[in-house]
Amino acid sequence: MTALLSIDGVSKSFGAVCALSGVDLSVDAGSIFAIIGPNGAGKSTLFNAITGIYTLDSGTIAFDGRRIDGLPTFVIARRGIARTFQNLRLFGFLSAIDNVLIGEHARMRGTLVDSLLGTPRARAQERAARERARAWLDFVGLNDVGEQFARNLSYGAQRRLEIARALASQPRLLLLDEPAAGLNPTEKRELADLVRAIRDRGVTVVLIEHDMGLVMSLCERIAVLDHGEKIAQGAPAEIRANPAVIEAYLGAPA
Ligand SMILES: Nc1ncnc2c1ncn2[C@@H]1O[C@H](COP(=O)(O)OP(=O)(O)OP(=O)(O)O)[C@@H](O)[C@H]1O
Ligand SMILES: [Mg+2]
Repeated sequence: MTALLSIDGVSKSFGAVCALSGVDLSVDAGSIFAIIGPNGAGKSTLFNAITGIYTLDSGTIAFDGRRIDGLPTFVIARRGIARTFQNLRLFGFLSAIDNVLIGEHARMRGTLVDSLLGTPRARAQERAARERARAWLDFVGLNDVGEQFARNLSYGAQRRLEIARALASQPRLLLLDEPAAGLNPTEKRELADLVRAIRDRGVTVVLIEHDMGLVMSLCERIAVLDHGEKIAQGAPAEIRANPAVIEAYLGAPA
């Protein structure tokens, strides 16, 4: 397997807080990869660094063999990286399907003039985009709520909607920041199935997650961050047995 995402020596500080310190990470194409670690370890900061929200203090990030650090967020998105946020960021007063269409628009062609004039070309594109958005809603199990306001959906459905919106940009790499937070056990199992289905479509998935049962059963590789440093990386069994990880995060078995 080849690395789809390569992170080398990435550091990022906020004033006196060193959120990331010399982090190296390599994610294989086609894998499901987890980033775990205590609160404040730098996990979300790493996603923000990958997606170009934060500029790096040092280090490099390459996607599919090309440097992406220093590029604007929309260019990184167009290269094929999509993400969800730890706190939901949906447009509550737009329908579910319109929320997905926003993800589509990240990659739709056509000119502003086409859209403003409502040319046949623009209308045909909108129709096709709407059909694709419906298909993404179907894919995440939200086929019957497309016309509802996002804010009226259950919390679990809103989390799925965020994933549908991210998928609508047709990424090759999907970053999920705590996708299972607040979900009940059944919803967590369904989420795991969804993540596997996403990977089976050829999308590499990196997720930040605190539920160790979910992480251990779903992910092939795990990286552990603590105080901005990567303290371990390996397969689930190695991570579970790693003394430094137990000390920093997992705790001793009961
Ligand atoms: N924009 C920012 N400005 C200042 N400090 C920040 C900023 N973003 C993150 N930090 C700090 O960087 C550190 C790492 O934060 P980060 O959000 O990456 O942690 P995390 O591992 O995602 O934690 P959690 O599990 O609680 O989500 C924290 O000390 C946080 O307060
Ligand atoms: Mg976080």
